Amino acid sequence: MGPWTLIISSAVFALLSWLGYHIRSVIVDNCTHCDTGEGGQDPQKSFEGYAERAEQWSRGELPDWDVAVSGPASKAEADELKPFFDWLGSFLSSRNISSIVDVSSGHWPSGWQRGVKWSGQDYTRLDITPKMIEDNRAFFKDKDPQQYGLRSVTFEVGDMLKELPKADLLITKDTIIHIPNWAILKFLETNVNVCPPRYREVLFIHDRPPYWKFRWGAVPLVRHIVRNWDCPGFSDFHEIDLRVAPYHLDVVNLFEFNSSTRADRVMDNPKVVQYMKTSCPGS
Ligand SMILES: C[S@@+](CC[C@H](N)C(=O)[O-])C[C@H]1O[C@@H](n2cnc3c(N)ncnc32)[C@H](O)[C@@H]1O
Repeated sequence: MGPWTLIISSAVFALLSWLGYHIRSVIVDNCTHCDTGEGGQDPQKSFEGYAERAEQWSRGELPDWDVAVSGPASKAEADELKPFFDWLGSFLSSRNISSIVDVSSGHWPSGWQRGVKWSGQDYTRLDITPKMIEDNRAFFKDKDPQQYGLRSVTFEVGDMLKELPKADLLITKDTIIHIPNWAILKFLETNVNVCPPRYREVLFIHDRPPYWKFRWGAVPLVRHIVRNWDCPGFSDFHEIDLRVAPYHLDVVNLFEFNSSTRADRVMDNPKVVQYMKTSCPGS
């Protein structure tokens, strides 16, 4: 092969790779399978459906399989979630974690947090939907947090795109799946990728992409080519792998479990716990 053939074929290869990369980005960022038709551009208004569900829950109108206000993957009584509750309880008791910030809090009276064996932490929970916070405070009015293994609980209306309170551990479960990529990046930039760190450790818990795509997140270099779907509005839905574009976080998958989103209990919802130990350059 002469030098010109080599130069020209390398240039064609580079051009095709560049084109392929950009076409992929356009397709992924404009995908319609992530548009549930319920999303909006106002982060506060888009989640008002949860306040409505909380009203229905208090009137006993939600069907049993969907009885948690935040959805079936938030139900403390669900058998399929028990392995996750047990795993989280052991994770917490094996580490020196005395304070937790959890965003979003969702709805404690019907939610998953009652299923976990907490180990003496101060627990601050924030949610952008005021009705969640109202119901959570009412629930704890006549209860001692120690009943659930916590030293204290605090509930605040708050937006995860803004600065959150500091703690040893940040938990975010089933929330960024409903937030567009640009807003997740803002959350990470404000609260996670900061120096000095606001949290020692972070647990991200969410639906993961199907395995054919998810496995590439573990492959060096290749993971920089793979990209998460975007969702057009707040309250839409997309699966998340924080290792791939546009996040590129150095997270480790610590635990996987399955949940169901349907009345027929089909386990169609693989979830992952992605763990991050925060650090600053040079530390
Ligand atoms: C599917 S629920 C999950 C609730 C809870 N994390 C759980 O796993 O049960 C989504 C919640 O995210 C809250 N939320 C959405 N955007 C938020 C934001 N920017 N800051 C704080 N909470 C938010 C909504 O109000 C809603 O309660």
